[in-house]
Amino acid sequence: MINTFDKITDQSYALAKKGDPLFGAVSISGAKNMVTKIMTACLLAKKGKLIIKNVPFISEVLITLRLFDQLGVKYKLNVDKTLEIEPQSFRSSKVKFEGEEGNRISLLLAGPVLAQFGEATIAKPKGCKIGLRKIDFHVQGLEKFGTQIKETDEFLFMKLGAQGLKGTQFRLPFPSVGATENLLITAVSAQGESIINNCAVEPEIIELVKFLQRAGVEITLNGDRSIKVRGAENINLSEFTVIPDRIETVSLAAAALATKGDVFLKNAKQDLIVTLLGLLEKMGAGIEIKENGIRIFYKQALKPISVTTEVYPGLATDFQQSLAILFSQVQGLSHIHETIFEKRFGYLEVLNPLIKNNKKFTISGQCPKGQECRFSGQGHQHFAEINGPIEFGAGEVAICDLRAGFALLTAGLLSDGLKISNLKLLFRGYEDPVAKLKSLGADIELKI
Ligand code: EPZ
Repeated sequence: MINTFDKITDQSYALAKKGDPLFGAVSISGAKNMVTKIMTACLLAKKGKLIIKNVPFISEVLITLRLFDQLGVKYKLNVDKTLEIEPQSFRSSKVKFEGEEGNRISLLLAGPVLAQFGEATIAKPKGCKIGLRKIDFHVQGLEKFGTQIKETDEFLFMKLGAQGLKGTQFRLPFPSVGATENLLITAVSAQGESIINNCAVEPEIIELVKFLQRAGVEITLNGDRSIKVRGAENINLSEFTVIPDRIETVSLAAAALATKGDVFLKNAKQDLIVTLLGLLEKMGAGIEIKENGIRIFYKQALKPISVTTEVYPGLATDFQQSLAILFSQVQGLSHIHETIFEKRFGYLEVLNPLIKNNKKFTISGQCPKGQECRFSGQGHQHFAEINGPIEFGAGEVAICDLRAGFALLTAGLLSDGLKISNLKLLFRGYEDPVAKLKSLGADIELKI
């Protein structure tokens, strides 16, 4: 398989259309939302070399490495998907993004940079436009560690008091993934003990906890979503392996079922998608869990279903896009109640004009009856009704966010011919998605 992530330009597009059901075996790559966090945690080491294995070739990794360049961190990304990192001392306390480029990782560098310089100038995080994506929990948490923070539109200017980073207790108002990771990493550089309450416990965060534990940090995860960390002078670890990407697993599983296919997802892990597997089972999908992966296959007409996205172990918000396309192929009414991000159904609006059989995706600002969520009464378009089966005609769509990108590819495989542009967003988080679908027999072409 050729890795294309660094060749995608603004002009690149994919052409997809209805063909045979997806069939065959494909490998799941390393997890996007874990790799960059482990990369950042490596910066807590003051010497030596750390090797991260199973690094996905996606531009999210490149964007993060460009931040490392600014800090002067030495690294080598090898063809065997290992990334060698030599943190040493940073040469700069400032990180910024170039042009349109960006991700959420800049903010996670705050702790390691503050620990060395006592100050940091950090570009505000960018990323998919799927809601407000405020950073107030990060700011409040870092302030509790003893940081003074001033904000401009583009940057956070941070300065430590005379006592440096000091251990603290902070309760997250909501179990935010990024804020949990940020405060855990910062806590390692702080003096003494820190307790973070109401943490997110997504599998990628558990991996970060495991990384820190193996690197010699005293860290405990309690049943009440609290994590206790004892600050450490240094961390010491030679290598760590990235787990398979659960979001890619679900994206491919949904595409297989939507095309009435039969695929074996090599390396896919049951324990990362237990909630999702229960849901597919309920719909009537064929599932075979093996030591080295999971087979997902169409065996009978699928049943419609209503789902709600939640923090882990609930159904991930990153799964709903591929599921929406799967639901569109099922006879009857399915629903998705999105409770994590305010505006994550833009891709359905993009698809509506392409529908040729008098159906549509209906998106509303109301919570389903009796299931009020934290967006209740605020008018955010966070509830989708999908009345299947939907038939997609031909046309053009532009990807509006990463996970929507894969959903649009899948819609393309059910259409009379879809041109999908803005692929940079897609390749930020999926490793060779077009080549992987093609290897399963999809009628899809990548035009670079
Ligand atoms: C991470 O984003 C992931 N990104 C997202 O995946 C994922 O959808 C999300 O977690 C939820 O699981 C990465 O890991 C790089 P959050 P993050 O902080 O950390 C609110 C993908 O496609 N909030 O858990 O940014 C926030 O607005 C991406 O791979 C605040 O209000 O998500 C949201 O409503 C998309 N203030 C909720 O919390 C804050 O300071 C959850 O966000 C922080 C968050």
